[in-house]
Amino acid sequence: MKNKYINIFAKLSLTVVVATLFSCKEKNGLAPEYMPDMYRSPSIEPYVDYGEVRDKQHPEMKDVMTARVPVNGTIPRGFTPYAYENNAEGYEKAGISLKNPIAYSESIVKEGEALYGMFCVQCHGATGQGDGILVEREKFPPLPVKFNPGLAISEGKMFHSITYGKGLMGSHASQLNKEERWKIIQYIRTKFMNESQTPTVQDTTSQEIVATQK
Ligand code: HEC
Repeated sequence: MKNKYINIFAKLSLTVVVATLFSCKEKNGLAPEYMPDMYRSPSIEPYVDYGEVRDKQHPEMKDVMTARVPVNGTIPRGFTPYAYENNAEGYEKAGISLKNPIAYSESIVKEGEALYGMFCVQCHGATGQGDGILVEREKFPPLPVKFNPGLAISEGKMFHSITYGKGLMGSHASQLNKEERWKIIQYIRTKFMNESQTPTVQDTTSQEIVATQK
């Protein structure tokens, strides 16, 4: 009786061993995966090329990704492309055609002043004379431009230069959006270039500008 059980147990064990040995064979030489969905989530994931991991079963999914490179010429929602090229011709054209779309107001000048203090003062100086702290400490050569009443430069040219950069000044397009660039220009022209501005009847705030541009 006891022998009989031992015999059955031995036969069962042998079957398990043989089954285990033979079940390990995979055509592509990879080890079998227990619950493959644990490794490869069936949910769609960005930046995962499903064809790469599943091309055996789903060749049509080769190179299928949820997040794709946008087609050429795609622009972000709400973004208006800048129409002037980064060359002398674009500079001249911008100088003639571009006008500050933000009406003058004291609060805009204040916002421009704050932005100037964050992004420009280190080179252009607190009074726009090109004597910022970097120049003072001789980290940067003296600036060839001084923001004075006599400076003959249109606001369009200023915008163009801030957008693309000029000479040793780098582009500020990634740090400052268009409204911010125009606000700084309004500040420079009002405070350093003594340009007389007609105050708008109503003091416009940034929020109102954003609202009217929608
Ligand atoms: C790293 C130093 C540096 C910083 C920061 C800097 N500038 Fe300049 N900027 C210069 C130099 C140098 C020039 C002269 C470029 C030339 O004509 O070669 C210049 C020129 C200019 C001009 C004249 C452009 C023209 O067309 O002649 C304007 C306007 C101007 N900067 C505005 C700004 C504003 C606004 C900021 C802040 C958003 C700023 N700059 C930040 C260095 C700087």
